[in-house]
Amino acid sequence: MKTTEKMENKHEKKYLRMTLNERIQHFLLLSSFITLVITGFALKYPEAVWVIWFRKLFGENTFELRGIVHRIAAVVMVADSLYHIFYVIFSGRGRKLIIDLWFTKKDLTDVIGTMKYYIGKSDTKPKYARFSYIEKSEYWALVWGTVVMTVTGVFLWFNNFFLPIISSFGMEISTAIHFYEAILASLSIVVWHFYFVIYNPDVYPLNRTFITGYMTREEMEHEHPLELEEIDKMEEEMKSETEEESIKKDAKSVSAEPESKTTEEKKI
Ligand code: HEM
Repeated sequence: MKTTEKMENKHEKKYLRMTLNERIQHFLLLSSFITLVITGFALKYPEAVWVIWFRKLFGENTFELRGIVHRIAAVVMVADSLYHIFYVIFSGRGRKLIIDLWFTKKDLTDVIGTMKYYIGKSDTKPKYARFSYIEKSEYWALVWGTVVMTVTGVFLWFNNFFLPIISSFGMEISTAIHFYEAILASLSIVVWHFYFVIYNPDVYPLNRTFITGYMTREEMEHEHPLELEEIDKMEEEMKSETEEESIKKDAKSVSAEPESKTTEEKKI
């Protein structure tokens, strides 16, 4: 199975990073997450300026509407996450995704190497493979954050059902965890994720891979040089295999030609 497919046009070679299916999963996560952040913090800070604007826009029912929208977005995010679990278990590309996202010893040496590069102790930055240690950490932080927000969110949503089970103290703990994890998640997206896909001078104003699905060769050279080397090597091997096959085919067709003709040709 191909991990990275390429698309060639007249001018540049492009490398597939996200299929349409993966881009839709990402879009659903992105839109539901932003909606959850806005509607969630609107509950906690009803007097904030931006919440007052919402109140002016939507009138008296703003808070009822906010609760409904928060729950709809939560359902979208949870459904998207469940689909993602299904995708990584039952599709070949999904299984490869998890294998490539899993931490290896190289990630540790990459962290040290990158830090040395940033403080000027090394002239070269480590070469990242399909996913850098940064992308891997972001992915697993997202998995953890989604589990925490879903569990605590379900407790808050169905509080009548869970109150006798976890008591009012458990409910308070759930609310606190939901709130602090919401701050952590929002900050990690705005500061961490947005830095790597937006503010970073290497990709500014926007890494468009989540829209187009592809990276250029130049971007691959910069972001995932080790993976690019592997792709090039694989392509070289495939090319030489094809050449060998066509030489064998030619040899076969020459030996399969009628004896008389070959003799005739020899005479000439
Ligand atoms: C990562 C995404 C999420 C963020 C950023 C977020 C944010 C918030 C925040 C800041 C609050 C206010 C907490 C407080 O009053 O101290 C809240 C409340 C709440 N959240 Fe979330 N949340 C998220 C995901 C979820 C999920 C997945 C669910 C459900 C499964 C959920 C259900 C609720 C419920 C029921 C409340 C109680 C108040 C209400 O909205 O009526 N949230 N959320």
